[in-house]
Amino acid sequence: MSVIEMNHPRVKNSTSTLLRAKAPGKGAAKVAANLAAKTLAKVSVNALQKLKKKPAAKPARKNGWRTAATSDRHELYELSVQTPTEEVDFMDKVFKSINNRLPATFREDFCGTHILSSAWVIQRPSNHAYGVDLDPSVLAWGAARRKQQLSPSAHKRLHIVQGNVLSHKGEPVDVVAAFNFSYYIFKKRAELLRYFKFARTRLKKDGVFFLDCYGGYESFSEQNEERNLDGFTYIWDTAKYNPISGEVLNHIHFKFPDSTQIRKAFTYDWRLWTIAELQELLVDAGFARSTVYWEGTDHATGGGNGIFRKATQGEACAGWIAYIAAEK
Ligand SMILES: C[S@@+](CC[C@H](N)C(=O)[O-])C[C@H]1O[C@@H](n2cnc3c(N)ncnc32)[C@H](O)[C@@H]1O
Repeated sequence: MSVIEMNHPRVKNSTSTLLRAKAPGKGAAKVAANLAAKTLAKVSVNALQKLKKKPAAKPARKNGWRTAATSDRHELYELSVQTPTEEVDFMDKVFKSINNRLPATFREDFCGTHILSSAWVIQRPSNHAYGVDLDPSVLAWGAARRKQQLSPSAHKRLHIVQGNVLSHKGEPVDVVAAFNFSYYIFKKRAELLRYFKFARTRLKKDGVFFLDCYGGYESFSEQNEERNLDGFTYIWDTAKYNPISGEVLNHIHFKFPDSTQIRKAFTYDWRLWTIAELQELLVDAGFARSTVYWEGTDHATGGGNGIFRKATQGEACAGWIAYIAAEK
């Protein structure tokens, strides 16, 4: 069996983990993921790499814990839900499995603090990343942070614009990604179809469009899920779900050891699309083929085993995250 492995945070069977190091509600505890792609080459990465890179939980310090007053919501968001290096590895491997070459140019739609684009330019000196986001404040926060972190030569290959993913053209690229479910903001079929069609036009001939998605029966349940992280607690709040329209209202809150909180640090008013709907829309948008990567089960724990394989049959579990790779 051909396997592509990638590191990816994900905990199966609970939406409390849905905000993986990437998105609202993704699991962050477990960081390894192995992807089965269409090549026969087995590419291995250290499954614990991401976990090691994440700051370890620190023991209580007299004055050292975070508080609401001393915390920055964008920083907490990045610590809670993003695993950019692992995702870049993943996209490399899937792209290579399809095209037998590595990608060089990347467009990150809904780029926010553009940490994923930043990981892209770090990955290889030939890489360029183009990030697009509407919100000038999140772009400004990201620009300051990325400038501190990147070498001058990598920073020159990072191109971020304030723009609308439905209309900003920019360079045609090898890979377009819309991660952390950001495209769920398009609640109507016609709106999402318009976005998928436009994203397709931004790809080169052999380009690949990557999406992530989440679901499971807990996603439809109005509840809070908590995860303890480095000196703070991340809370994924499913405040409202409308079974008729499929719309869901989620918030991210952060809670601190001194009992202070940042309530509604981020709010997502969007539609919980199903994979079947997404794959049909990708066909309608003109994509030649889309492939779903579904996580296997760790039979000892009943949770996810970090191994994502090409699949056409999933399981009706409590919470899941999957990826879709759509070929132009
Ligand atoms: C859930 S955040 C995702 C941020 C980042 N991609 C991540 O993985 O964490 C969604 C982002 O999409 C941006 N956004 C929403 N609608 C947009 C649009 N039409 N065009 C560009 N950006 C948009 C918001 O400003 C916000 O930064």
